[in-house]
Amino acid sequence: MADVARKFAIVTGASSGIGLELARCCARGGYDLLIAADDPKVNDVASELGGQCAVDAVLADLSTTDGVDQLLAAAKGRRVDALLANAGHGLGKGFLDQDFGAARHVIDTNITGTLYLIHKCGNAMRAQGGGRILITGSIAGFMPGSFQAVYNGTKAFVDSFAAALRNELKDTNITVTCLMPGATETEFFERAGLMDTKIGQEKKDDPAEVARQGYEAMEKGEAGVIAGSWSNTFQVAMSRVMSSERMAEQHRKQTEPGSAETA
Ligand SMILES: NC(=O)c1ccc[n+]([C@@H]2O[C@H](COP(=O)([O-])OP(=O)(O)OC[C@H]3O[C@@H](n4cnc5c(N)ncnc54)[C@H](OP(=O)(O)O)[C@@H]3O)[C@@H](O)[C@H]2O)c1
Repeated sequence: MADVARKFAIVTGASSGIGLELARCCARGGYDLLIAADDPKVNDVASELGGQCAVDAVLADLSTTDGVDQLLAAAKGRRVDALLANAGHGLGKGFLDQDFGAARHVIDTNITGTLYLIHKCGNAMRAQGGGRILITGSIAGFMPGSFQAVYNGTKAFVDSFAAALRNELKDTNITVTCLMPGATETEFFERAGLMDTKIGQEKKDDPAEVARQGYEAMEKGEAGVIAGSWSNTFQVAMSRVMSSERMAEQHRKQTEPGSAETA
């Protein structure tokens, strides 16, 4: 039976990568956990973390409101102290060459499902008098993403949304933190079909370090963190001064199909 005196966190996208590391941070930080993903690997994560805290795992497609409802039902009405809305995925290739259903799944997961979950948990947090929300955005949200156009667009939405929601809730005890990683060594690139690109083959940031930075920012109630190497902060700074056209051209060099061979 759940020990309701302990803190309780929901972590989405916890089967691998940054979400797995965020779940590990929460377990070390004294949270009980409800973790979710659309892959049975999330059950292995529950087994791994079960030695440190109470963990329940849910397999659900969080691009759908039904999937999010399934996740929320598994919380069994327990007070949610922290929501780490991290599930998301990318999609490479030129927009016109993408399968539209796959492109839509990126939008439905990264935006619609994420917002529905935050709306539900945010209202519960307001009723209970506080809580912490961490949203995984991306530095990709600062640049037009040639050959990842839909993905970067969703992250521009998420980065902007997180800052706006934080402001709306500034007079409450709910904090909203946006974790903005740069390229991080996870399954993201393989899943997005980006392994033949320069960015797919490049050395990337460590997901454990990225998650640690996000988790600590969430615990401190900070607005956001550009996680990972200094070059991520540099890229964001450049995005403030470079034209969209130039940024799109720079992005192309990283993500154009076949760019791994020309690197
Ligand atoms: N890696 C990077 O370079 C990078 C940079 C900036 C931001 N991010 C963001 O970081 C977050 C985590 O990505 P990652 O890099 O850790 O990649 P990852 O290793 O592929 O992990 C993605 C996680 O999200 C879950 N997920 C994706 N779509 C889902 C859906 N429709 N329903 C349920 N679960 C879903 C995956 O579960 P399944 O196994 O079930 O699909 C997995 O647990 C994403 O929001 C991503 O956009 C990544």
